[in-house]
Amino acid sequence: MSSTPVEISSQKKALRKKLLSRRAALSQAQPQAAQEAARICLSLLTLDTDLVIAAYHPIGTELHTEFLLKSLWYKGIRCALPRVGDAAGPLTFHLYQQGDRLEDSAFGVAEPLASAAVMDPDVIIVPLLGFDKDGFRLGYGGGFYDRTLSGLRRRKRIVAIGYGFAGQEVAEIPREDHDEPLDAIVTDQGAFRLER
Ligand SMILES: Nc1ncnc2c1ncn2[C@@H]1O[C@H](COP(=O)(O)OP(=O)(O)OP(=O)(O)O)[C@@H](O)[C@H]1O
Ligand SMILES: [Mg+2]
Repeated sequence: MSSTPVEISSQKKALRKKLLSRRAALSQAQPQAAQEAARICLSLLTLDTDLVIAAYHPIGTELHTEFLLKSLWYKGIRCALPRVGDAAGPLTFHLYQQGDRLEDSAFGVAEPLASAAVMDPDVIIVPLLGFDKDGFRLGYGGGFYDRTLSGLRRRKRIVAIGYGFAGQEVAEIPREDHDEPLDAIVTDQGAFRLER
């Protein structure tokens, strides 16, 4: 029997709690994970200077993206970071160059200044609380990445890459109609691509 929307939403809530503490333990135990994930990610991406790659500025114990962003920058790839505008809207991505000043958003996330150039990314590195083998993800519950990916996918072809610790994988992330799947997952222990 399939779950009702209310049931799915409460399953997600319980899973968020579990995955938050799991990720905290992983980030303590595996300080080298971000470097490994960056190495794996860079080995898989076909880098072209026409590409815009968006990543995220980590909050809490999210796998950090510093190595990845620095390496992309040295290779001459344009990078972008998200800004949260309206709580009910999609994220917007703005050019981020190494050393650029960031400011705190209303949600406590460091983000580029509104004056930084807006970029439509080709590749998006997406933060995770958890993921499953089908490329479904769980975030904090704002629906920001779901709205953002669905908006971008209507306009262009993008590659959305979930980025996290291998230990964040679970058997199945509860799914709702608005959940946008990822195209690939990169962790500190490997990567896989979903064919759609
Ligand atoms: N495309 C959409 N259209 C309408 N509502 C949406 C859409 N995407 C997300 N939402 C809203 O966002 C809420 C939270 O979504 P969900 O539980 O999937 O969050 P999440 O994927 O874990 O969060 P995030 O993407 O911010 O990391 C949903 O209950 C829904 O109201
Ligand atoms: Mg979702």
